[in-house]
Order: sequence, then C-alpha cells, then structure tokens
Amino acid sequence: MSVARFPHGFLWGTATAAYQIEGAVGEDGRGPSIWDAFSHAPGKTYQGHTGDVACDHYHRWPDDVRLLRELGAPAYRFSIAWPRVFPEGTGAPNEPGLTFYERLVDALLEAGITPFVTLYHWDLPQALQDRGGWSERSTAEAFARYAEVVTRRLGDRVRYWITHNEPWVVAYLGHYLGVHAPGIQDLPTAIRVSHELLVSHGLAAQAIRAASSQAVVGITLNLSPVESASDQPDDRAAAQLFDGLLNRWFLDPVFGRGYPLDVRERLAPYFDPPDTDLPTIAQPLDFLGINYYAPAFIRAVPQEQNLLGLAQLEPKALADRGYQLTDMGWPVVPEGLEHLLLRISREYAPRELFITENGAAYPDQLVAGRVQDDQRIAYLAAHFAAAYRAVRAGVPLKGYFVWSLLDNFEWAHGYSKRFGIVYVDYESLSRFPKASFSWYRDIVARNALVE
Ligand code: NOJ
Repeated sequence: MSVARFPHGFLWGTATAAYQIEGAVGEDGRGPSIWDAFSHAPGKTYQGHTGDVACDHYHRWPDDVRLLRELGAPAYRFSIAWPRVFPEGTGAPNEPGLTFYERLVDALLEAGITPFVTLYHWDLPQALQDRGGWSERSTAEAFARYAEVVTRRLGDRVRYWITHNEPWVVAYLGHYLGVHAPGIQDLPTAIRVSHELLVSHGLAAQAIRAASSQAVVGITLNLSPVESASDQPDDRAAAQLFDGLLNRWFLDPVFGRGYPLDVRERLAPYFDPPDTDLPTIAQPLDFLGINYYAPAFIRAVPQEQNLLGLAQLEPKALADRGYQLTDMGWPVVPEGLEHLLLRISREYAPRELFITENGAAYPDQLVAGRVQDDQRIAYLAAHFAAAYRAVRAGVPLKGYFVWSLLDNFEWAHGYSKRFGIVYVDYESLSRFPKASFSWYRDIVARNALVE
C-alpha cells in the first residue's frame, strides 16, 4: 500500500456551471442566453434537450450545499449566469440575480467552503448575440462591466475569480464547427472571437482587481497534450498546428508572449489579431486553471474536408489502438495530465495552477437507490495519482476540482452523459450520491490517495 499525501491546504473541490444545473430560465428577471436559443432550435441537442429545468439547482441549491458539506471538500467552483445579472447584457443590473448568488456564496462560506467563481461559462445574453456577440468589442466591454458589478457585490466574500471557461471551445465549437451556441460555422469569425474573448479576459481581470483588492484572478483553459496519429510528416505537422490552436494560441498571449507565430501565419488569411490588444490580454495572472480530460490525437486531412487540414482520431480508431474510452468516446490517459502539468509549469511558470475540471462520463445505472460507478473511481484515482506525481516534481498545483458535483446538461449531448459524483434522477430531480462520492469524501478527509 502506498500513500500519496497532498500538500497541506490543497484545495479539493467539485465544479459546476450555471446553465448546466440551474434551470429556472425564466425566473426572477433572467434574460435569455444563447444556450436557451440554441437548445430550443430543432436538431441542435440530443433529443432536443434544453436547460429549462436542468437539475433545478436554482430552487434546490440549499440541498446541493448540504451535499457539498457532506462531501467535505474545501472548495467549490460554480459559474454566474450573466443573463441573471444583466438580462440584456448591459444596462441596469437585475437585483434578484445578484441576490441569488449572494445567498449561495453566504451558504458556502457558512459551510466552510471556499467559492471559486467563473464569470463566463458560455451563457452569453442573447441580446448581445443579436448585436454580434463575441465578434464585437462592445461585448468584451460589456463583460468587463458585468465583472465589475459582480465583484463589487461579492468581492468582500469571494477571493477566487475565473474570467473565462475554455475560450477555445467557445470560439471553435461555437463559431467554427457550430455544434455549440451560437451555432455559427465560419472560421474567420471563430478566430476573431478567440481574440475578443482574450481581450475580454484582460478587461475583466482589470475590472475585478479595481473592484476588490483581495481578488485572486485566473482564467480556465482546456489544454491537452497533442499526439500525432502517426510518424508521417503531414500528421506531425497537423498535430503541431493543433497544439498551436488549442494550447499555445491562448497560453502565449495570456503569459505576455503574443500569439505564436506559426499559428498566426497559418490563420492570417482568415483573421490576424491586432498587436495593439496584446498588452490588455497579458494581465498579471494569479493562477491558471486547467481543464483536462484527454490528450488529442491528430491526423492530417485534405483541406476540402477541413480548412485547417486536420481532424481528431475517431473513438473507433482510439479503441483499436488499445485505449479505454469514457462514455464521451474520450481516451483515458492519466499520464497526459502529468505531462501537461510539467510542460505548463516548465514553459510558462504560472504562479499557481488549479485543475479546474477533470472527470469522466460513464453510463451509470441507479439500482435500488445506489450507483456503483467503479470506472469513474478508477479514472479519478489514476488522474489524482498523475497530479500527485506532478506536485512531487515541483509543479505549483494548489487544488483539484472534479467535474462534476451533479449529473447535468452536457451541452449538445443533453442529459445523455453523466459526469456527476451525484446521480440526478431527471424525473423526480432527486439526488443520489454515487459510490465515487463516498470514495472522494475519504480522499478529501485524508488529503491523500491510498493505493
Ligand atoms: C468542459 C466544460 O467546461 C463543461 O461545461 C463540460 O460539461 C465538461 N467539460 C465535460 O465535457
């Protein structure tokens, strides 16, 4: 038996996001978001699922805070729905929206739980989309104002702020592949949006610091080690480009290096971001949040198939190579997390790192009120061990948030994918802690992984 003891004060937690759990989309003055519009449009989500009710967290949050208390993890990451605070994106704040989050934060603090607040987890007010959405600088400015108003209200109680969650996903899945809201399929728009998101991160970081002197500010990126599907030069080049698009395009400017030149040259025919914005993007960062699920395996494809000339390996090809897959079809590669943490720490030297999301979907079954999710336990154990090795090697990893506290609305997959350590019965909306919940509770209590 070996014991992997994490550093004293390590911030274990779980994570959620507003649109995925709250429901109550028409209540207390909340305005519509792009995900309301997208999920209600025919054919966009699995079986037409929407976040209208979701886990009904908006009404059941006291139960959810009780679950968090029971879990005993010292931190909890959630997001604020911009359209609850500014139903139209700009203008006058909606008091009941602010009150909702104020109560939640107070209940968390009362339970001894440190809140990590994400300001943008994909639910842009539809009114802003109607005026061009993230393609427009005015949206970045509205985001900074929203950040300021929220920090003014909560900054005496919330220290940890995350401006954006996974801007790559927002830009590319939302504006190039069109499988996420707002469902646009246009490469120049996607690149422009990636730039405006980064500018808005910088503006929001400034606004947060101006509103609260104790703020600890970060951004969450979805990062992955990128593997070439083969040793062929075209696959290798495609993998190198994808590493640029997914990882370096965001990391480099945030850490003050400007955009990576190889990618910039490749994207210039579509959109070339102005250098004048680089100082805004490069705000001092207190921490970097990393969402890690799996490495990306990339192969070259003809440009007629994809303008960028690359594609990810399909689940079938990954299974043929011997990888275990989660219910998302993502390969289980815990070493990927260790390698990623070592690389980020070596190449960018962030002050602090948090894994702001890691977890897995499996087809859980509720049997007599219980869910025996051994695969999720194995997934998490292997990834905790990988994180531990990175900590031992000197990586300044300060916390780890499991995605997710609850089964929830998995975007285009609707409710068909379950990531929670708590099972949600969507008929009754009852919550059932899974076996992974008790397992994680023990790890948190010991601050150690026993293998
Ligand atoms: C990343 C996103 O931030 C979250 O919203 C999503 O549910 C998980 N990954 C799982 O796909």
